[in-house]
Amino acid sequence: MLLSPFMAVAQTNGSVPVGASITATDDSPSCGFLLLLPFSTNGQAYKNVSLGKSLTAASGDLPWTSPSGEFAFGFQQVGDAGYLLAIWFNKIPERTIVWSANRNNLTQRGSTVQLTADGQLVLNDQSGTRIWTTPYLGGSRAAYGAMLDTGNFVLAGQAGANLWQSFDQPTDTLLPTQNLNSGAQLIAPYREKNYSDGRFKLILQRDGNLVMYVTAYPLTASNAYWSTGSSIGSGYQLIFNQSGYMYLVASNGTILNQVFSNPVSLQDLYLRATIDYDGVFRQYVYPKTASGGKNWAMNWTTLPKSIPSNICLEISFPLGSGACGFNSYCKIGDDQRPSCRCPPGYTFLDQNDVRKGCKQNFISQDCGHPSQETDSFEIQDMLNTNFPHTDYEIFTSVDEDWCRQSCLSDCYCAVATFMDRTCWKKRGPLSNGVTDTGISDKALMKVRKGNRTEELAQKKSAKKSDQSALIISGSVLLGSSIFLNILYVFFTNRKKQKVITQHHAMRDMNLQNFTYNELETATGGFDEELGIMYLHKKA
Ligand SMILES: *[C@@H]1O[C@H](CO)[C@@H](O)[C@H](O)[C@H]1NC(C)=O
Ligand SMILES: *[C@@H]1O[C@H](CO)[C@@H](O)[C@H](O)[C@H]1NC(C)=O
Ligand SMILES: *[C@@H]1O[C@H](CO)[C@@H](O)[C@H](O)[C@H]1NC(C)=O
Ligand SMILES: *[C@@H]1O[C@H](CO)[C@@H](O)[C@H](O)[C@H]1NC(C)=O
Ligand SMILES: *[C@@H]1O[C@H](CO)[C@@H](O)[C@H](O)[C@H]1NC(C)=O
Ligand SMILES: *[C@@H]1O[C@H](CO)[C@@H](O)[C@H](O)[C@H]1NC(C)=O
Ligand SMILES: *[C@@H]1O[C@H](CO)[C@@H](O)[C@H](O)[C@H]1NC(C)=O
Repeated sequence: MLLSPFMAVAQTNGSVPVGASITATDDSPSCGFLLLLPFSTNGQAYKNVSLGKSLTAASGDLPWTSPSGEFAFGFQQVGDAGYLLAIWFNKIPERTIVWSANRNNLTQRGSTVQLTADGQLVLNDQSGTRIWTTPYLGGSRAAYGAMLDTGNFVLAGQAGANLWQSFDQPTDTLLPTQNLNSGAQLIAPYREKNYSDGRFKLILQRDGNLVMYVTAYPLTASNAYWSTGSSIGSGYQLIFNQSGYMYLVASNGTILNQVFSNPVSLQDLYLRATIDYDGVFRQYVYPKTASGGKNWAMNWTTLPKSIPSNICLEISFPLGSGACGFNSYCKIGDDQRPSCRCPPGYTFLDQNDVRKGCKQNFISQDCGHPSQETDSFEIQDMLNTNFPHTDYEIFTSVDEDWCRQSCLSDCYCAVATFMDRTCWKKRGPLSNGVTDTGISDKALMKVRKGNRTEELAQKKSAKKSDQSALIISGSVLLGSSIFLNILYVFFTNRKKQKVITQHHAMRDMNLQNFTYNELETATGGFDEELGIMYLHKKA
């Protein structure tokens, strides 16, 4: 039966926090809010939205629901910030949003959405200013609108043809039967409970390559960190079919790449594929009923395979901060999600937005008197850690103690990494920081001595979270490395191995080449935006 492949996953991941990023309401939805959005508005009247109909935010208007009541179209409140014109799963307490019209421009109480007499959907804010509208539909005029059971809101012509559909303007989520067409993209939300355009996107480029980019928030796309590759740069459409499979097809229908191949019974489970605020593209399921869910928790659970498989390692470029902000490092946690952390001596710039990075919380070494200052600094070790692309000096055939002393007595050195009798000195701001058992470097963080209270507090909180890493890394050092390496090779796809090999073989020898190769690998050398970067770098 269809469910069996996932039972183990559901059981082991039962406590994993999932879906948090897409939850529209606060942790505890208020009663008032629930009253506004009843579980099943099975109102016949709402199945077909006729011209002239409108909804007003926070007025008690019932949203326009699909015939089954599983999806609804209307206003969702986003904390105290305002209202989002959205489509959401309407039968689950989380009211998870799958589409929105005004994610970068929330409206306030009293704003309205109307299906106008001339057949356009128009969102006006409380003062009547137009915030968003469906595009001009040429000569054809919509005769009615409808929220469909697939989660698609459509504007249909007199003859029933779809003139516009929300499925063609995705935000961060795809639903089964929703395909991503050439040129279309998904943009991750900014962070948990903030639906604004975020730092990552997935785009089916017009050159046929399906690519994920860091968006260099708040401007444009820059670095590609995942792609289907150059060998299949002929993708025409990304298909998400009714069995839960997602694949890239050529215009002749040939399957070029299986993105997700988790068979899911849509009778029992809700399914969505979302690019989360952490930049990872994941599939989630939620049981429709407690009995239908069988072994599933009544919550969003991730299905096997996330894209990319380890974002902490995949985002590593000469420009940009990496998967986390500057001066921080990324680590895949026990929940299989990337988390951003600060190294010893550093604290978050913004506790509420950890991806903004970390700041040094001690006074830097005085370059005027480096020798006197050396005693004021110490090294704190971070196993299995590196900060690629921040090197300014390399020394071979040295030992670890030499590396420590060299960094301590060099005011430019923020951290040194040591591996295989080689010492790399690195400057700030630190970028691409990552802790992973696949990394054999040891990072030697230089911090000022003496702020003991601060230090102790940090150690205490760091100890808990890093304990597992230390145990694992310890066992690697103590001889099980062959076994782990085999496991690693086994679970790692070819592309990733290639990237890692490059990290070690080419690091510091030829940065320019490395960049070029990595970008080329990632994008297949087909992307126009990157083409500009090549020229820029070469110049
Ligand atoms: C579902 O997951 C979220 C995120 O981890 C958690 O906050 C919530 O309590 C969970 N809900 C249930 C019913 O377990
Ligand atoms: C929706 O409205 C259109 C136009 O009035 C009509 O042709 C169609 O039959 C209606 N559909 C349903 C399901 O009521
Ligand atoms: C979401 O984050 C963006 C970027 O920091 C910010 O401009 C916006 O105000 C935030 N929105 C909410 C609702 O907090
Ligand atoms: C948001 O809407 C207001 C009108 O309420 C408009 O003046 C403003 O330019 C919009 N901002 C964005 C970012 O679209
Ligand atoms: C979905 O795609 C998979 C893989 O290509 C295929 O085996 C399955 O039959 C498809 N399901 C439907 C309903 O088309
Ligand atoms: C379909 O298109 C792909 C990619 O362009 C090509 O490799 C393949 O040969 C084509 N298949 C057929 C049957 O035309
Ligand atoms: C110690 O760290 C705290 C927290 O960052 C800071 O407020 C304080 O000024 C530091 N003290 C010294 C002597 O640097």
